[in-house]
Amino acid sequence: MKVNEVTRFGLIGLGGMANYHFLLLSQLENVKITALCDVNEELVKSKCEQYIIPSEKGYTTFKNLIMDPDVDAVISIVPNKYHAEILKECIFYGKPVLTEKPFTVDFKEADELEKLYKENPIPCMVGFSYRYVPSFRYAKKLLEGGKLGAVRHVSVQYLQEWGSAIFQVPHSWRFSKEMSGSGALGDLGSHMVDSARFLVGELESVSAIMQTIIPERSNASGNGTKAVDVDDLTSFLAVFQNGAIGSFLTSRNAIGFGNHLELTICGDLGTINVCSERPDEIDICLKDAQHTDAKFTKNTIPEEFKLNQIQSFLDYLQGNNQEYIASFYDGYENQKVLEAVIESSKSGKMQQI
Ligand SMILES: NC(=O)c1ccc[n+]([C@@H]2O[C@H](COP(=O)([O-])OP(=O)(O)OC[C@H]3O[C@@H](n4cnc5c(N)ncnc54)[C@H](O)[C@@H]3O)[C@@H](O)[C@H]2O)c1
Repeated sequence: MKVNEVTRFGLIGLGGMANYHFLLLSQLENVKITALCDVNEELVKSKCEQYIIPSEKGYTTFKNLIMDPDVDAVISIVPNKYHAEILKECIFYGKPVLTEKPFTVDFKEADELEKLYKENPIPCMVGFSYRYVPSFRYAKKLLEGGKLGAVRHVSVQYLQEWGSAIFQVPHSWRFSKEMSGSGALGDLGSHMVDSARFLVGELESVSAIMQTIIPERSNASGNGTKAVDVDDLTSFLAVFQNGAIGSFLTSRNAIGFGNHLELTICGDLGTINVCSERPDEIDICLKDAQHTDAKFTKNTIPEEFKLNQIQSFLDYLQGNNQEYIASFYDGYENQKVLEAVIESSKSGKMQQI
């Protein structure tokens, strides 16, 4: 794809997260939305009107959008169950794709995709959006520059409150294994794993506990209840390939937390703390033999660490800077870790990845 050419996007799945992608696209030049798709026909109609897209480019079948010659690149924002199917079609039609996380519903799907991808690679970015939190990117630079020395341990927590009993959230695809693969683990834990892989390195083994705090929820229709067969809460210990130890905790039932992904990374020379709720700030404490009483300082993040995720995808498409892209293989490796967490919680044993 040539630089400065207008890139024409087609979005599949027009629900909650699509609004964020519409926002990111609205901040960019040289992009155009040329097609939309959702199984909800009314939603397609209203979004086409809102974004001034001709009604014939509003689809209810994703294959038709992927095949559309007026779509240069796809953004896939559908429930997890459809991620693999859409990726498969994008690989088949050679269409670049930004696909939401978790990568797939299980590792079997990821493995099948990998075989197809190897034969027919396409530009593919996975929506691990926390790589675009300025403090996370700044932390990456600090770690790459060896500022912390050897990393010894990391604590990662991703907490949200919306699933707590007091909110009485009805059943949805997010509480169904068939639709989502797992619960808090795939939804939030996939981000924890990606951030840890991004900043600290590959995980080697895990030991996990998973719990469903609320085993049934009311049907969206208001009549009766439906069983929840995924986790609300997952915790695991991990050993990284570089020898560091990690403790991970994710919950949708953590009162007081809106969208709190926090990492504390401790090395021989210092500790850093970053949190999604303070995206432009990082806490740093660095010590050496001459500065043993140094304290934590709050630091603001330089402008150069701010980057729109879709701009990053465009850079990738145009063969420009591909630094820190969450690639197809980041999705694949992430899914391998999630699978090991599930296996460990079932067996009660440490699981190799
Ligand atoms: N990167 C992030 O931080 C982040 C945040 C939120 C959600 N997500 C991911 O985005 C995806 C969507 O989440 P959401 O919150 O927008 O869900 P949502 O339920 O709000 O929206 C999903 C939309 O997809 C549509 N849809 C369902 N099946 C479809 C199909 N076969 N073809 C076309 N459209 C279909 C639904 O009608 C709905 O409008 C999920 O995979 C989720 O994990 C990522």
